Amino acid sequence: MNFKTIIEPFRIKMVEPLRMTTPKDRKEILEKAHYNLFLIKAKDILIDLLTDSGTGAMSARQWAKMIEGDESYAGCESYYELEEVVKDLTGIKHIFPTHQGRASERILFQIVGGPETIIPNNTHFDTTRANIEYTKAEALDLVIEEGKDPQSDHPFKGNMDLVKLEKLFKENEGKNNIPLCLLTITNNSGGGQPVSLKNIKETKELCEKFKIPFFLDACRFAENAYFIKIREPGQSDRSVKEICQEIFSYADGFTFSAKKDAIVNIGGLLAVNNDELAGKIQNLEILTEGYPTYGGLAGRDLAAMAQGLREVVEEDYLEYRIKSTNYLGQKLLEIGIPLLTPIGGHAVYVDAKSYLSHIPPEQFPGQALACELYLEGGIRSVEIGSFMFGKNDDAGNFIASSMELLRLAIPRRVYTQSHIDFVIEVFERVHAKKDKIRGVKIVEEPPFLRHFSSKLALT
Ligand code: F0G
Repeated sequence: MNFKTIIEPFRIKMVEPLRMTTPKDRKEILEKAHYNLFLIKAKDILIDLLTDSGTGAMSARQWAKMIEGDESYAGCESYYELEEVVKDLTGIKHIFPTHQGRASERILFQIVGGPETIIPNNTHFDTTRANIEYTKAEALDLVIEEGKDPQSDHPFKGNMDLVKLEKLFKENEGKNNIPLCLLTITNNSGGGQPVSLKNIKETKELCEKFKIPFFLDACRFAENAYFIKIREPGQSDRSVKEICQEIFSYADGFTFSAKKDAIVNIGGLLAVNNDELAGKIQNLEILTEGYPTYGGLAGRDLAAMAQGLREVVEEDYLEYRIKSTNYLGQKLLEIGIPLLTPIGGHAVYVDAKSYLSHIPPEQFPGQALACELYLEGGIRSVEIGSFMFGKNDDAGNFIASSMELLRLAIPRRVYTQSHIDFVIEVFERVHAKKDKIRGVKIVEEPPFLRHFSSKLALT
């Protein structure tokens, strides 16, 4: 539809109240949470943009499917429904449900990883990297150079650098130490940037030449396919579903967090074509996730996932999804907030380092901005910068993360345009006093993954 206004392609028949708080309440809440937004109770948040994972709103059809879910231990009907939908979309032979994406990663890399092995990717998501490194394998990021430049306007900044990938394959030829190559669509850690169909196909061809299986981290496959439709020459007349089918036709397998593009609150998939690998996955799955026809989920979760996968490739939905994320980004750019551009599919990333240039990286400008957005309007966002990834070397010197970002992730089908307009207004107010925003420092931190539980204070 060719209208200026982006309407939500759904209407609402069940609502959840949002609790308004006063500035005084929020100041107290933030102090009590030690300036760490993970430690704030969700009931004290007005607009929650912490993540798009598992936070989406299911449709009436998905809820109806929940009621129909078959809870048989083995061979439940809901599994076969899910299998049919996934096979239609992907053509992959063996489909294993898991409780979420990282469970698929754990099973896969426990089997194929291990010391001396290397797993290349455009950019590994944290849990993927952690599951690979846990087996003592190396997780290698080979995204194109434009993908590392916050302001490059390349339309597919998630693309794999094929020159570097070929070099890696050549250097390791005959060593049998690259069990598979991964490609993350869209590239979350690189700003939710898509990968082109051409790059997916060429990555597959390169893998085939060197006899290396090609896998997708398919969390946001439908958003990636929609970007291909609107940005890649020759793709605009195809349906998103057709594009998805072509994407998956190149893959020998995939990991998937259904909490993203299956619009469910929990669930994941691990899918492979290779029979021998499937046998090993089945054994591990039985050991740790559950019988392979339910894989750590209830039958109703499988049924809702199947329905979500039908809905996520609907183009009215995807047009609204991508345009509404872009709407938030464009308005923030108009205010003068520097962003990682082009704007990604599931989130808007603020370049907090250049925005709050008076706050040095060791005082976490992204976290300082996250705190200010909460104080001003009860918005929860997440810092992706030195608070999350920075460290100290053995001599105690601070090592900053390469970027200081603040992510505003948009849950699927949850917030309306007026919620987003409210977020924009909060940014306008914060912008007016941005030079007064103070940095923060860590006063207590756990031994790892410090962003989840550290205590902070104002500097
Ligand atoms: N891969 C990617 C690209 C992801 O974005 C995530 C999760 C996972 C794997 C792991 O999936 O959470 O179901 O175990 N990303 C969430 C986020 C947590 O906020 O971006 P999971």
